[in-house]
Amino acid sequence: MRSHYCGELNHTHIEQTVVLCGWVHRRRDHGGVIFIDLRDREGITQIVYDPDVADVFAMAEEVRNEYVLRIEGRVRHRPAGTVNKDLATGEIEVLGKALTILNRAETPPFMLDSSDDEISEELRLRYRYIDLRRPEMLKRLQLRAKVTRSLRSYLDNQGFLDIETPMLTKATPEGARDYLVPSRTHPGSFFALPQSPQLFKQLLMMAGMDRYYQIVRCFRDEDLRADRQPEFTQLDIETSFLDEEGIMSLAEGMIRQLFEQVLEVVLPPFPRITYSDAMLRYGSDKPDLRIPLELVEIADLLRDVEFKVFSDPAKDPSCRVTALKLPDGGSLSRKEIDDYTKFVGIYGAKGLAYIKVNELAKGRDGLQSPILKFLPDAVITAIMQRVDAKDGDLVFFGADKRHIVSEALGALRVKLGHDRQLCQYGWQPLWVVDFPMFEWDEKAKRWNSLHHPFTAPRSEDLATLESNPGAAISRAYDMVLNGSEIGGGSVRIHQPQVQAEVFRALGISDAEAEDKFGFLLNALRYGAPPHGGLAFGVDRLVMLMTGAPSIRDVMAFPKTQSAACLLTDAPAAVALSQLLELGIRINQPSKISKPE
Ligand code: AMO
Ligand code: AMP
Repeated sequence: MRSHYCGELNHTHIEQTVVLCGWVHRRRDHGGVIFIDLRDREGITQIVYDPDVADVFAMAEEVRNEYVLRIEGRVRHRPAGTVNKDLATGEIEVLGKALTILNRAETPPFMLDSSDDEISEELRLRYRYIDLRRPEMLKRLQLRAKVTRSLRSYLDNQGFLDIETPMLTKATPEGARDYLVPSRTHPGSFFALPQSPQLFKQLLMMAGMDRYYQIVRCFRDEDLRADRQPEFTQLDIETSFLDEEGIMSLAEGMIRQLFEQVLEVVLPPFPRITYSDAMLRYGSDKPDLRIPLELVEIADLLRDVEFKVFSDPAKDPSCRVTALKLPDGGSLSRKEIDDYTKFVGIYGAKGLAYIKVNELAKGRDGLQSPILKFLPDAVITAIMQRVDAKDGDLVFFGADKRHIVSEALGALRVKLGHDRQLCQYGWQPLWVVDFPMFEWDEKAKRWNSLHHPFTAPRSEDLATLESNPGAAISRAYDMVLNGSEIGGGSVRIHQPQVQAEVFRALGISDAEAEDKFGFLLNALRYGAPPHGGLAFGVDRLVMLMTGAPSIRDVMAFPKTQSAACLLTDAPAAVALSQLLELGIRINQPSKISKPE
């Protein structure tokens, strides 16, 4: 139907006759001449209709925004003074000769040249097929396709096999709730949609596939945020006979090639940082290294001071007392400090003590803070030295349970970095390694896996796994980019007795382990090779690479924050007959859809 895409025309096509198909982006009448901006996937071209050919001109007068046209015309230079430098095709225009209206359109619910934030997201999601016509969205999905193409080609070249795994399956624990699917043929029983293909990819290694990957949908019923969706895409990878070094270098090579191919960016080296260092220095296991602020431990200086807010946690090993210096922060107003105090409150911090450093040389008199009166000179001096304070700085303090201080000051670090424009430009990838095997769940009074229960412990921690689970370090690793966890994985357990021990440490009884993962335990007994892998969050990666503000902006048909699809109105009521067939009774009968 067409000879060219609208967006590909330039001065090299001058004098050529072309046929274009696309949507009317805009139509303007200019004293007897009609201009139509015709848009397709690749861009926009200006078509001009003169009144010479009356019937074609009459048709051009009739077209409205979003009509679908096929046009034929001759490419020519735009007249001097009308060149549009902002448009790829801005040097040329097409003098229209013929025009066919392929379809008409009602007035769209929003203007297509509006930017993301000029249209309500609800409207964008309800009319997603129109939203996706906007050049901003088109570009994101085009980049996404380039990303998956680059990832696939890297793995194909490295001898990986693309293998599919079931969507109707048994629960795979990745820390979220499952989406369940009732079975008609087994009334009262349910499939779970996979939270990840974790167990199947391990079984593929036991089957001798050696190198597997899959770009695969995962389902997690969890609280949604700007970078989380209930249904999202992983690049899932598993390998046999590679240790963590081999797996990390393979993954790093893949991400490096991706950035070179898609963004023409050469990533800096990926530093490695242990989980415990990351928590100490950045208060986060996904630190944004673009922000040049660090947390500094000061508990040892404060054990004996009278100020109980500091001295009590300083003496308690489950707590931390930490300083965060903001260079030139002395200019913060009282109101700004109050707002930051409210901000850390979100993370459970009970306050946000601070000291303004006006003139260091004057000692106590050169400082300004409500807590100075509680601290002796020597302690104040030692704190100032430890954080390397300079005149004009401000030092914040957090004192509480470790996780509260880490989360509160970690988040404050990022917020200050952005608010004060300290965030460096560019890409800061890193690996976080040496994660603990388990974390204590205070509510449930039990240990949980930090990664998942199939992650191998370091061999030196095997003997004390059960007696001291809190000290065991795993062979897991996360890849972090600009403060976002883009991928993570581990070397897996490949020996049945180790897997049984880990289940025991997690308080999973033999019977429960058999019931939930018996098939895996069995498979481990039939010659399981050492294996390991990782999975990347494709949506998150694309979100970072496009600079999109939300994960929803890089998915064609995302769900809302409350996990609904506004376009199709899913989830929806079903007919009573369907429920009966499935053996399901629901306790909201009003929700059952009425027969037609
Ligand atoms: P994990 O649970 O860390 O590991 O997931 C891997 C990556 O998937 C992305 N991700 C998400 N993206 C969008 N929305 C979500 N709800 C969401 N949840 C996770 C993140 C994360 O880094 N089976 C293991 C991997 C392995 O061990 O090989 C797993 O699923 O970017
Ligand atoms: P208070 O004695 O409660 O009035 O607190 C004195 C100062 O310490 C105030 O600036 C509080 O914001 C701050 N503060 C209180 N609790 C904490 C805490 N757990 N961590 C850091 N600062 C705190």
